[in-house]
Amino acid sequence: MTNNPTIQELSHEDRAFPPPADFAANANAKADEYDKAAADRLGYWAEQAQRITWDTPFDTVLDWSEKPFAKWFVGGKLNAAYNCVDRHVENGLGDRVAYYFEGESGDTRTITYSDLLREVSKAANALTELGVKTGDRVAIYMPMIPETVFAMLACARLGAPHTVIFGGFSASAIADRVKDCGVEFVITADGGYRKGKPSGLKSVVDEAMEDCPEVRNVLVVRRTGQDVAWNDDRDLWWHDVVDRQSETHTPEAFDSEHPLYIMYSSGTTGKPKGIMHTTGGYLVGTSFTHWAVFDIKPETDVYWTAADIGWVTGHSYIVYGPLANGATSVLYEGTPDTPHRGRWWEIVEKYKVSILYCAPTAIRSFMKWGRDIPAEFDLTSLRLLGSVGEPINPEAWMWYREHIGGDRCPVVDTWWQTENGSILISPLPGVTETKPGAAMRPLPGVVADVFDDEGNSVEPGNGGYLVIKEPWPSMLRTLWGDEERFKKTYWSQYPEVYFAGDGAKIDRDGDFWVLGRVDDVLNVSGHRMSTAEIESALVAHPKVAEAAVVGASDEMTGQAIEAFVILRESAEDGGDDVVAELRNHVRSAIGAIATPRSIMIVPDLPKTRSGKIMRRLLKDVAEKREVGDVTTLADSSVMDLIQKGVAES
Ligand code: WTA
Repeated sequence: MTNNPTIQELSHEDRAFPPPADFAANANAKADEYDKAAADRLGYWAEQAQRITWDTPFDTVLDWSEKPFAKWFVGGKLNAAYNCVDRHVENGLGDRVAYYFEGESGDTRTITYSDLLREVSKAANALTELGVKTGDRVAIYMPMIPETVFAMLACARLGAPHTVIFGGFSASAIADRVKDCGVEFVITADGGYRKGKPSGLKSVVDEAMEDCPEVRNVLVVRRTGQDVAWNDDRDLWWHDVVDRQSETHTPEAFDSEHPLYIMYSSGTTGKPKGIMHTTGGYLVGTSFTHWAVFDIKPETDVYWTAADIGWVTGHSYIVYGPLANGATSVLYEGTPDTPHRGRWWEIVEKYKVSILYCAPTAIRSFMKWGRDIPAEFDLTSLRLLGSVGEPINPEAWMWYREHIGGDRCPVVDTWWQTENGSILISPLPGVTETKPGAAMRPLPGVVADVFDDEGNSVEPGNGGYLVIKEPWPSMLRTLWGDEERFKKTYWSQYPEVYFAGDGAKIDRDGDFWVLGRVDDVLNVSGHRMSTAEIESALVAHPKVAEAAVVGASDEMTGQAIEAFVILRESAEDGGDDVVAELRNHVRSAIGAIATPRSIMIVPDLPKTRSGKIMRRLLKDVAEKREVGDVTTLADSSVMDLIQKGVAES
């Protein structure tokens, strides 16, 4: 563990916003939730578990005897898709809208819970016909369209864990995940619409499949109608297979700990981690937090998580949380500035969105585009705003509150991770007096703290490492196929305590401020990237001898990727062409999100005597600061050479 310069003293924040009286009076979660959970934590979670319909009730809330491998709601059996769909229809809510789908090009679909039941049942029957069985892993590489939800829920219905791969990932990133997870069945689309153009998805899957002979079928949704290459032995159109299926399907109840999905996320080594979530605890966590933090009133609210289903935020707060609660959500396919920069606000106005959840990077873009754009639309339907994915700077928080929330909507800054499954630290909007930029308090039932290097709680006013001291229902259960890495990554820094990898501070009032990663994980526009993953991609290029990657602070994206590269002798004097070539190389190795903002060709890299690259110094260069202490470098002249190069470029 290293000391991280991001853990700095924050000046005290004096601005505070109490919940509006009418919001507080009608809020789902009141202040007594904290007391109830503190008095009997497991009893509290057992009570939250009643939000879910169990086929067989559980007999034990938590089995923590094989730490750090938790089992929640032991003995219980349930079906996640039944909980998200069938039971609402059985309760007479079949006509309620589950999704207002808005395609980027303006096409729309309204999907009720009855529609969802039909579509998910047909998809589940199709997967069964195609040989997908309980326990098989299914990869999903899709645009933001309703079929993505149908596919996920069809998998959940069969107990076949899905692994959704973000549609911006490259062919080799797909192949890595498919192989790591032992996937034999892939669902994709011909493409989706992004920035006004059809993007190719099937073509990327085709390329990935060259490296994945185990995959027997690729099921393809027709979204854009673009021409696609076809492998008759492997490829099937969704409409050919799914449309002719029976509209009924009987869901089977699975064990509470049956795997629901695997989501790959970046860690501190080059290999992405397969974060595994199970059924009962995950559904309880997402449904509870969607109720408590978003104050969902399913009869009247229109809820919108403006994120991609390919990330955990989409899994928990576009799919499982809102559906478990029988809510009505917006599902938007495209980008915020297509065809114009008011697109989001047009959608809020059109569907009378009442709750909006998005990332600070989007808010910062809107700030840059100017307050006049949202001012053109009627945003008075909004009553609650949420933020997720990275620290939100106080200016962006204030802007969001004022120009989107009309100074009347509470803003909840929610901290959590792919590993956590659902929100862990956040204000309760009807209870907590919020401060711009602070995630405030651990939710009821969550025991979080900030530790120093020795594992002691820091005093109020100090910074340290964010930890979770007790297990929680939607926690990851393991890393797919790598129990050792699971133990080492999260449970080895402090005994029996979950180490989040984030720096945090507790202020004088006892409120939490999350400051960002303390390891080599970058956060670019709310997307997690690992320095090691990008470095491995760079050194795999024949012209590269060595590479170091750092995250430099960036006004818009939070952090930006800066690469320092030593070329092989044969490739020297390659000029700008080499830089362009390397950028393209990273893009095709991982995906566009991993493209470095800049690549600097350097003669050497700063290393300690033991050979460890001192990224801290490179970060100083990238952030145009005076370079820090170089005394531990094996060769202190290296930094002079690098800086000279920067000055000349
Ligand atoms: C960061 C996204 C500050 C943090 C749900 C964490 C945040 C990583 C916040 C997880 C927040 C997320 N304030 N930082 N409200 N929310 N983070 O796995 O560094 O994509 O470790 O999950 O995002 O990113 P992930």
